Amino acid sequence: MFSRLAAFVGLIQAVYALPQANTATAPPALDTGVPSITLATAVASPTAPLTQAIPSQIPLPPTQPWCPSQIFCAGSLLQTVNVAALYPDQKTFVDKPTVGSSQQVLSDFQNITSSGTPTEGAVLDFVNSNFKGEGLELEAIAISNFNPNPAFLSNVSNPLVKAWSQTVHGYWTQLARNTNESSLCGGSNNCESTLIPLNHTFIVPGGRFREQYYWDSYWIIQGLIKSELFDLVKDTLENFMDELEHIGFIPNGGRIYYLNRSQPPLFIAMLHDYVAATKDTSILQRALPLAEKELAWWRTNRTIEVTSSYTNKTYSVARYAVVNSAPRPESYLTDYLTANDPELKTPLTEQQRADLYAELASGAESGWDYTARYMREPGAGGTHNTNVALRTLNIRSTIPIDLNSILYKAHNILADFYDEQNRGSVAAAHRQNATVLREAILDLFWDPKKLAFYDYNLTSNARNDFFSVATFFPLWNGIIPDELVSSPENAFGFFSTLHMVLNRYNGTYPTTFWETGLQWDAPNSWPNHQHVVFEALRALPANVTSGAFPATPSNESTYALIPAGQLGIAEDRLPGQPIIGLTHNASLTGPSADLNKLNGTVFNGGNATDGEGWGAALQRELANRYIASAFCSWHATGGSIPGVLPRLSDQELNITQSVNNTGNMFEKFSISDIDSAGRGGEYTVQAGFGWTNGVVLYVASVYGDVLNAPICPNLTESAATVGGGSGGSGDSGAASSLKAMPTVAVVVSVLASAVGLFF
Ligand SMILES: *[C@@H]1O[C@H](CO)[C@@H](O)[C@H](O)[C@H]1NC(C)=O
Ligand SMILES: *[C@@H]1O[C@H](CO)[C@@H](O)[C@H](O)[C@H]1NC(C)=O
Ligand SMILES: *[C@@H]1O[C@H](CO)[C@@H](O)[C@H](O)[C@H]1NC(C)=O
Ligand SMILES: *[C@@H]1O[C@H](CO)[C@@H](O)[C@H](O)[C@H]1NC(C)=O
Ligand SMILES: *[C@@H]1O[C@H](CO)[C@@H](O)[C@H](O)[C@H]1NC(C)=O
Ligand SMILES: *[C@@H]1O[C@H](CO)[C@@H](O)[C@H](O)[C@H]1NC(C)=O
Ligand SMILES: *[C@@H]1O[C@H](CO)[C@@H](O)[C@H](O)[C@H]1NC(C)=O
Ligand SMILES: *[C@@H]1O[C@H](CO)[C@@H](O)[C@H](O)[C@H]1NC(C)=O
Ligand SMILES: *[C@@H]1O[C@H](CO)[C@@H](O)[C@H](O)[C@H]1NC(C)=O
Ligand SMILES: *[C@@H]1O[C@H](CO)[C@@H](O)[C@H](O)[C@H]1NC(C)=O
Ligand SMILES: *[C@@H]1O[C@H](CO)[C@@H](O)[C@H](O)[C@H]1NC(C)=O
Ligand SMILES: *[C@@H]1O[C@H](CO)[C@@H](O)[C@H](O)[C@H]1NC(C)=O
Repeated sequence: MFSRLAAFVGLIQAVYALPQANTATAPPALDTGVPSITLATAVASPTAPLTQAIPSQIPLPPTQPWCPSQIFCAGSLLQTVNVAALYPDQKTFVDKPTVGSSQQVLSDFQNITSSGTPTEGAVLDFVNSNFKGEGLELEAIAISNFNPNPAFLSNVSNPLVKAWSQTVHGYWTQLARNTNESSLCGGSNNCESTLIPLNHTFIVPGGRFREQYYWDSYWIIQGLIKSELFDLVKDTLENFMDELEHIGFIPNGGRIYYLNRSQPPLFIAMLHDYVAATKDTSILQRALPLAEKELAWWRTNRTIEVTSSYTNKTYSVARYAVVNSAPRPESYLTDYLTANDPELKTPLTEQQRADLYAELASGAESGWDYTARYMREPGAGGTHNTNVALRTLNIRSTIPIDLNSILYKAHNILADFYDEQNRGSVAAAHRQNATVLREAILDLFWDPKKLAFYDYNLTSNARNDFFSVATFFPLWNGIIPDELVSSPENAFGFFSTLHMVLNRYNGTYPTTFWETGLQWDAPNSWPNHQHVVFEALRALPANVTSGAFPATPSNESTYALIPAGQLGIAEDRLPGQPIIGLTHNASLTGPSADLNKLNGTVFNGGNATDGEGWGAALQRELANRYIASAFCSWHATGGSIPGVLPRLSDQELNITQSVNNTGNMFEKFSISDIDSAGRGGEYTVQAGFGWTNGVVLYVASVYGDVLNAPICPNLTESAATVGGGSGGSGDSGAASSLKAMPTVAVVVSVLASAVGLFF
């Protein structure tokens, strides 16, 4: 793990040494005192000498019918550019429009390859002379009618949290994009690009995610609604409707290389939230038929019949299953190396490679790319080589809790819409399908003894025992098992891992409790999932949540309150919690494992109040933790608020290489170090960031009266602390020495003239 992290730090430093000449077009700063995000395109940084021949290649994968571009889709050109490894992120290349015609590019490519394997330098020259800056087809735009003081701010009582919420609200101005008609390819602009042009404004997640994304938009919209930016919500929905109309489904994101896959189907939920907030039912005339098209796509392309081994009943349920037999163009080299790992003793067969590529694309469709949850052998290979475990992906044979819960809610939402339009029989058909899906979810996924939901495994024809945050999705979507409604003890048991996390760790709820080195596993926790946990808690009736927390047995930790077997991990196998100033982690067992336990609350968990039930207490604690995670990692990377919060010193900011930075909103966090962003995965940690901001605004709006000013760890001391990683006392790793990093290459629209500096 350590050498990977060291390499990562080196990479950041290399990129930060670049000239800042192409800083461009940040929209004008608003009254909110919004800092401008630094904008830059990545400059190629091949690690191999330019005179060296690029590595040899294995035979090309089959051409993918859904992706015909000879430049940007699987094929000789894409594979050659990828093995040359010019950019740290493979998405950079496929987001670069060509300078000239496709024909010109292909002929130049032919030239460098016709006499054998080209050199690094030849590939670099080819790319530099034939491709423009990535993301040029998008432009940053000013948001009209931006209100710096939306009403939700008055819900926030703490002055610092209020000022910071307003700062985050201001970040929408940095993330709004239009398709840049003047630099689009096609028509008189004789070039080729992967962008799917959209007719309406949208909010991007940020960083490498420079297009509109599907599931991200759901949590972006949670924030936009609080920010009263209803036109932007509508624009986002119009874009999705255009895609449903023209493409037949909503792709993962706005690039042609996403056209074989979707993402968790939250369009109907977004529609619901927009109409609920605005009462604008006029959108439904266009939206309802397209919502039907969305559901029909999932039914046709992603649904299978499953016979429950518990009841012998047969259900139609959905899974993630992408038709694909090549590396993903935006992660080509990563997938290629997963399939053609030099560490493999026996090379994969062509069929095994094709299956793996389908699994990798399906993992991306699930949104959780990647996680031990979907692996036959989650621990295989350890954290040093995640490819070993990735090759055991088994997602197409998994029926996921979250996907089916989302579809259940979608049917109910549509039923309500039709009822309001007096279209009772269509409403009834949707309610009928929702009822059947509810039965399927409770039969296939619900374990009434362990009090948790688990994915159904088609390979074993049984529920998995792998526990994850997905257990909260049914409640969020309105499915509450009888065992929880009828018993306060069971209801608490269902949320007991949340209680443990808040007492034991410094951050928020992780995706899983497995440390694999993958980004949808421990120690990472993600903003969108915190929102799901909040909504799951809020779904429980008051009569089961109003009691006090159960007492923790003496000589034990809050782990002891988790129902037997639910978590499936022994207490001493849980991820460690480093302590600043000590060289070992907190104890893994016994009362002191609850490092953050206070009287009636937790550290960075707000103030306990008299008569507060456990349900409200968990929400208050998680709300404070979420704000602390997002705020502290932002402050640790240079965030400040004029007149309210000073910047850290340059000496402190040097630790995070943020001397020139103005505060990052990260896409994910660490459960154990709230100064730091999450880590792992197939690209560097991103800043921006759409769903992080959306969930901050949601939390500020809903829980603003119980939020305290966060207490951030001392950056200097925490950087010097060694500990973390897996294991408890005495175990040491490098986890906490990696602090929150600024992103490499945060690209917003770059002025054509600025691009001229590079090309
Ligand atoms: C092919 O590449 C060589 C060397 O870079 C160059 O001199 C030549 O003009 C190119 N030919 C064509 C047809 O582009
Ligand atoms: C965008 O608008 C143009 C002009 O109205 C239309 O031709 C095109 O189909 C629209 N694009 C999409 C994706 O709907
Ligand atoms: C969905 O299924 C239809 C009908 O089988 C097929 O034509 C289409 O290519 C599929 N779409 C995707 C993205 O796989
Ligand atoms: C399901 O069907 C099989 C074969 O018909 C039978 O052996 C089994 O007992 C049934 N299981 C249940 C739970 O009904
Ligand atoms: C599914 O079942 C198979 C067969 O028992 C098992 O090897 C695998 O670990 C299970 N889980 C997943 C995610 O495939
Ligand atoms: C309900 O499910 C059935 C079976 O999958 C399907 O044929 C039908 O179109 C669905 N109806 C609605 C309204 O979604
Ligand atoms: C809580 O209220 C619901 C009705 O809202 C009822 O069905 C349930 O039995 C009650 N639970 C308890 C523990 O009283
Ligand atoms: C976690 O929080 C505790 C205080 O509750 C503190 O002692 C410890 O140093 C923190 N660890 C890190 C890595 O911030
Ligand atoms: C714990 O907090 C409660 C109020 O929330 C207070 O009444 C009690 O005295 C406190 N106990 C200790 C030991 O501080
Ligand atoms: C900043 O950190 C680097 C190591 O990352 C160190 O070499 C340098 O001296 C530090 N600069 C200052 C001003 O502290
Ligand atoms: C910060 O910016 C200044 C001026 O542009 C530059 O000299 C310095 O090297 C930068 N520092 C870092 C750590 O990037
Ligand atoms: C929590 O308690 C502290 C100290 O008693 C107090 O300063 C603060 O205002 C309280 N916060 C809230 C949100 O009530």
